[in-house]
Amino acid sequence: MRLALLAPLLALTLGAQAPGHHGVRLPQAFFAGNRARLLAELKKLGPGTLGVLKSMPELPRNGGDTQPYRQDSDFYYLTGIEEARSVALLDADSPKPYTLLVQPRDPKRETYDGPLLGAEGALKAGADQAVVFPEAAKTLKEALQKAQRVVLVCTYDEPFRKEVLDAVYPVGTDNGHASYKKILVDGRNLVGELRLIKQPAELEMLQRAVDASVAGHLAAMRASARASNEGEVAGAFEGTVRSLGARFLGYETIAGAGPNSCVLHYPNNDQPVAKGALLLMDAGAEVGYYTADITRAWPTSGTFSKEQRAIYDLVLKAQNAAMACIRPGRIHHEGYDAAMRILSDGLVDLGLLKGDKEQVYKSRDWKRYSIHGISHWLGLDVHDTGSYGGFTEDKSAGLRVLEAGMVLTVEPGLYIPKDAKDVEPRWRGIGVRLEDDLVVTADGYRNLSDKLPRGAEEIEAIVKSGLKAKK
Ligand code: GLY
Ligand code: MN
Ligand code: MN
Repeated sequence: MRLALLAPLLALTLGAQAPGHHGVRLPQAFFAGNRARLLAELKKLGPGTLGVLKSMPELPRNGGDTQPYRQDSDFYYLTGIEEARSVALLDADSPKPYTLLVQPRDPKRETYDGPLLGAEGALKAGADQAVVFPEAAKTLKEALQKAQRVVLVCTYDEPFRKEVLDAVYPVGTDNGHASYKKILVDGRNLVGELRLIKQPAELEMLQRAVDASVAGHLAAMRASARASNEGEVAGAFEGTVRSLGARFLGYETIAGAGPNSCVLHYPNNDQPVAKGALLLMDAGAEVGYYTADITRAWPTSGTFSKEQRAIYDLVLKAQNAAMACIRPGRIHHEGYDAAMRILSDGLVDLGLLKGDKEQVYKSRDWKRYSIHGISHWLGLDVHDTGSYGGFTEDKSAGLRVLEAGMVLTVEPGLYIPKDAKDVEPRWRGIGVRLEDDLVVTADGYRNLSDKLPRGAEEIEAIVKSGLKAKK
């Protein structure tokens, strides 16, 4: 892992060709294993259970174009199929349970858009049976008619959801109709729980995404030293991770300078970077369908101002406190409470909140400047699936207990709005978030992104190295 990370970093510094992660994918056995686990869950629901999984719909872009196509994460996790307009059927009663419904080969279309799987490709990709459209529509209809219980895994394809609903519960049928006894189940929770515990191969892919993102963050920090616009900083990250094999970003890059650092999901990345401005960048590369989610904030001058440094060090202290709560058996929410206590006390020490520390913490006044949760699951999606166990008044009840193999972010932040009237002007417009990606291990955690420094002086040194670099 060390070598895998060092290689791209060295290559970047030396300007050599980076080895990168272009086109990497998990093996078919991984997807087959996931299907087997879902089929075991479907079997538990009783005979006559059919799983129905739908690919991500294609989304239009202006002028007859489409948005870049990226498969639905549940569908990908269970099939490894990257093609649009695909349906997977999982018949829990059959010894050959997995049927793929795909587009037929089409030489003309393929000339424009690249190869399609067709039935042969679907079988090679692991299906027990494959049928192409339009005949596949009949296969789907018959399977839905035969099933007693349909477990649907489909988040984004609204017409398809309606098609399944209408097939299971036809409009206008009377109480005596056979369909009245059928059951339609939303299967996303079942899949979400499967996805929550990461397998070793997934951890390796996440590490690749994190490694590429670390290189991207380092490039962005260096570039910011001479950047006159946020776009140059976002571009340094995105160009670097793309050249290292990230086909997609896990989410839109956030690169906000000055007061824009306080906009949590700042989308524009196109404003000037003022001299001495702090810049917050939240950016993650997606490699082989798995994404990183990393945030740093740094002074583009290479030296934190006194106020920037005070806020930075406080957020770092809170992040360390939250990380110390990550181990099997601990409740996911504990990290939040630990971090908020540090932030609350620190805000009093800095004079940004007034009063007795205990009272300030209890009053939750700190919520003025700490405005989001500090952790979510990470994997195929930046906000990955799996329940958090629900937030109740009794924090010991029903909250998710951490287990080895869960991957999560730890990301406290403080944001002093530019129009915060009750603080001295010198504090206004400072936004700091620190975000790292952790895997829960048998005895604690491993920080997948620990190669990206967090200490204020190390961060300053990286930015300064960009000042010295030649254009
Ligand atoms: N990048 C989105 C988040 O941190 O949750
Ligand atoms: Mn996050
Ligand atoms: Mn983030």
